[in-house]
Amino acid sequence: MKEFITHSDFETQSLGEEFGKKINSAVTFAFFGGMGMGKTAFIRGVVKGLDSDDRVSSPTFALVHEYAGRLPVYHFDMYRVESWDDLYSTGFFDYLGEPCVLLIEWSENIENALPDDAVRIEISRGELESDRVIKTDWSEVQ
Ligand SMILES: Nc1ncnc2c1ncn2[C@@H]1O[C@H](COP(=O)(O)OP(=O)(O)OP(=O)(O)O)[C@@H](O)[C@H]1O
Ligand SMILES: [Mg+2]
Repeated sequence: MKEFITHSDFETQSLGEEFGKKINSAVTFAFFGGMGMGKTAFIRGVVKGLDSDDRVSSPTFALVHEYAGRLPVYHFDMYRVESWDDLYSTGFFDYLGEPCVLLIEWSENIENALPDDAVRIEISRGELESDRVIKTDWSEVQ
């Protein structure tokens, strides 16, 4: 488990960008951490690191946003997902096994449905209001 500490939205985005640059084949990033922890900020960086200029925002109502990068990117927000039916309707299962990058906010809500090889990225608050502790078991950053 590797741990990073960031001190601003910008630093979290930059860390995400470093992760994005290291992606060279299909991967699922499963984000854990409550409201306003910086999941979307991190994802903004990942998408940039995948060489996409697309605008990133939480797909809270749209269920999924698609971005065009070195690999196709699908950004899910599972905040409102409460059942297997809800999850099916996001189209989540159609993307598993596809050559794409899946970025999943609120993975807590679909923990049982995550693929076995999903990379967990857990964000929590640090000592200061703007500190974030970002933990992951991703082999590329150990
Ligand atoms: N170190 C930090 N990293 C990221 N965001 C930070 C940091 N410090 C403060 N912030 C603030 O925290 C908020 C993070 O918002 P963001 O939308 O990225 O969170 P989120 O985890 O996606 O939230 P939600 O669960 O609502 O989708 C922003 O308002 C940002 O300015
Ligand atoms: Mg978000």
